[in-house]
Amino acid sequence: MKIAITGKGGVGKTTFSAVLSRLLADKGYSVLAVDADPDANLALALGFPHELAAEIVPISDMKNLVAERTGSQPGSFGTMFKMNPKVSDIPEKYCKEYNGVKLLTMGTVDSGGSGCVCPEHVLLKTLTTHLIIGNKDVVIMDMEAGIEHLGRGTAKGVDFFIVVVEPGERSLQTYRKVKQLGEDIGVNKVYVVGNKVRNKEDEDFILNHVDSNACLGFIHYNQSVIDSDRANLSPYDQSEETKIDIEKIYQKLRGFSDVQI
Ligand SMILES: Nc1ncnc2c1ncn2[C@@H]1O[C@H](COP(=O)(O)OP(=O)(O)OP(=O)(O)O)[C@@H](O)[C@H]1O
Ligand SMILES: [Mg+2]
Repeated sequence: MKIAITGKGGVGKTTFSAVLSRLLADKGYSVLAVDADPDANLALALGFPHELAAEIVPISDMKNLVAERTGSQPGSFGTMFKMNPKVSDIPEKYCKEYNGVKLLTMGTVDSGGSGCVCPEHVLLKTLTTHLIIGNKDVVIMDMEAGIEHLGRGTAKGVDFFIVVVEPGERSLQTYRKVKQLGEDIGVNKVYVVGNKVRNKEDEDFILNHVDSNACLGFIHYNQSVIDSDRANLSPYDQSEETKIDIEKIYQKLRGFSDVQI
């Protein structure tokens, strides 16, 4: 299963990605969590100790690796390089593992095919495609906010998007854009998780604004999630209620006959 977690800025993509990754790892799945946000912060949300998190170098910053795989000269522009670099060994070799979750930090991912074609982007793009056709049990990609970066490269081979929304019009607008984009690029399954809900009105608001059957469930607004963020700890270890909410979302996902999880 390859899942991309998307949505508007600040809705809880990283929180959800981290807790889902930990939950699945505890259930015995082999989980590869991918931090595809240039502003990477998934490691701490997963509960990585500071020292280990600080050691992480994003793939796009590994100049020697980029040069070696693409045949380019580091820092040079306009030279020839390979468009099909070898990437198959990168996830295992360059991920960091903690609490049973393997984490791969990508750095800056190419923005949907437009703009710059440089060796770093070619490597990341090829790697993204490879990740999501690899044979890990579950790949969970914590994406950059918004939709600008979601291109065919990212979408290739992704089984579905989960859009995290809040009970408000702005994040639902992002959901509608992701859904439209999904149709354009061939990702037909776009599910929704409602985060930071406080009551039934919040849940109804979300349900009334998304496709019927698209909503996988809700995560309640929870002070312990905020506290865990402040303390740089994993919400998985700090918020039992959030774990239970996300367990329910996992069960709902499993119930879909076309979802192999
Ligand atoms: N259920 C919740 N209850 C309370 N606070 C929450 C909840 N989920 C997330 N938050 C808080 O909201 C903030 C944003 O969460 P998070 O970083 O997971 O969002 P994001 O979508 O990944 O953001 P970005 O777009 O910056 O990557 C954090 O301070 C987090 O602790
Ligand atoms: Mg995030």
